[in-house]
Amino acid sequence: MVDMTRNDNSPHAVEVRGLVKHYGETKALDGVDLDVREGTVLGVLGPNGAGKTTLVRCLSTLIVPDSGTARVAGYDVVRQPRQLRRTIGLTGQYASVDEKLSGWENLYMIGRLLDLSRKDARKRADEMLERFSLTEAAKKAVMNYSGGMRRRLDLAASLIGNPAVLYLDEPTTGLDPRTRNEVWDEVQRLVAEGATVLLTTQYMEEAEQLASELTVIDRGKVIANGKVDELKARVGGRTLRIRPADPADLPGMARALAETGLDGVAGSQAVPDEGTLLVPILADEQLTAVVGLLAARGYAISDIGTYLPSLDEVFLAITGQKPAAEDSVPTEQTEEVAA
Ligand SMILES: Nc1ncnc2c1ncn2[C@@H]1O[C@H](COP(=O)(O)OP(=O)(O)OP(=O)(O)O)[C@@H](O)[C@H]1O
Ligand SMILES: [Mg+2]
Repeated sequence: MVDMTRNDNSPHAVEVRGLVKHYGETKALDGVDLDVREGTVLGVLGPNGAGKTTLVRCLSTLIVPDSGTARVAGYDVVRQPRQLRRTIGLTGQYASVDEKLSGWENLYMIGRLLDLSRKDARKRADEMLERFSLTEAAKKAVMNYSGGMRRRLDLAASLIGNPAVLYLDEPTTGLDPRTRNEVWDEVQRLVAEGATVLLTTQYMEEAEQLASELTVIDRGKVIANGKVDELKARVGGRTLRIRPADPADLPGMARALAETGLDGVAGSQAVPDEGTLLVPILADEQLTAVVGLLAARGYAISDIGTYLPSLDEVFLAITGQKPAAEDSVPTEQTEEVAA
């Protein structure tokens, strides 16, 4: 876990104000404001199509916003793209390395593109391969790498130039848990060394592991932001899921809880499709109170359980509606090739 108190007063490495980017009718970014303090990780959460990649592309100068401003390390994305590019690293959602080249050749080429001497580019490529446990696969063509190896190479590639600010666009989507942990360790190490990271993710767990602050976006708009703990408190630490014996009782049960006036509990929601009632629980006492109240009203319960909020529940709580499920998460091949 990254120390959340350390950098409260550090200046902003990334400052975004009123950023707008439309694609025809689609408002990919619809007036986004956000800040990332130097030496911290900001997690940008959002469902498919929320605008995360569009945001990262604007901040990397790959696309030009329609309006609004964004500064990275003091450089304006529109007016100072060249200076800005020198201070950032980007690990995109989609692999950006050359499939036909080996891991080493990819890193060497990037070093040369960044104006390193041949000697320095060689040294840096070796260092980065070592750091990401890719030394043994250094000479293999990237097309023969597993998904996890590619992602590690991507991360290595984005670090060749020693960037002060790093963008990670869904860095672990489709990775197996072990490789995901390796990527997380590496990101934590970078931040400990002073890097600033803007991380987009659909995984609440990833955000919790890495980010000190979160910005939640949906349909191009910021719908919530704050420290991880603040957001969780706002969403409610846990949700109680109650399944009535008779699904027809759902509306009555929801009404009964709404009338209690108990903090959080009043925000309970019936999910008729699943035949369950979801009740935000802010304190342990509320569990007893909710179950007691329903029993006192004569409702029969067939199943009950609590669980921590997933990103979907965060959305449910913040927006009052479930995020639109679009494309499913792509899966990648994850087994390692024998070196
Ligand atoms: N080049 C483009 N042309 C047209 N529409 C686009 C383009 N790029 C993005 N969009 C649209 O803008 C919206 C935001 O897309 P974006 O890729 O930024 O979302 P995202 O949050 O990164 O989603 P995902 O989690 O699936 O990666 C979507 O509705 C998408 O279809
Ligand atoms: Mg994306």
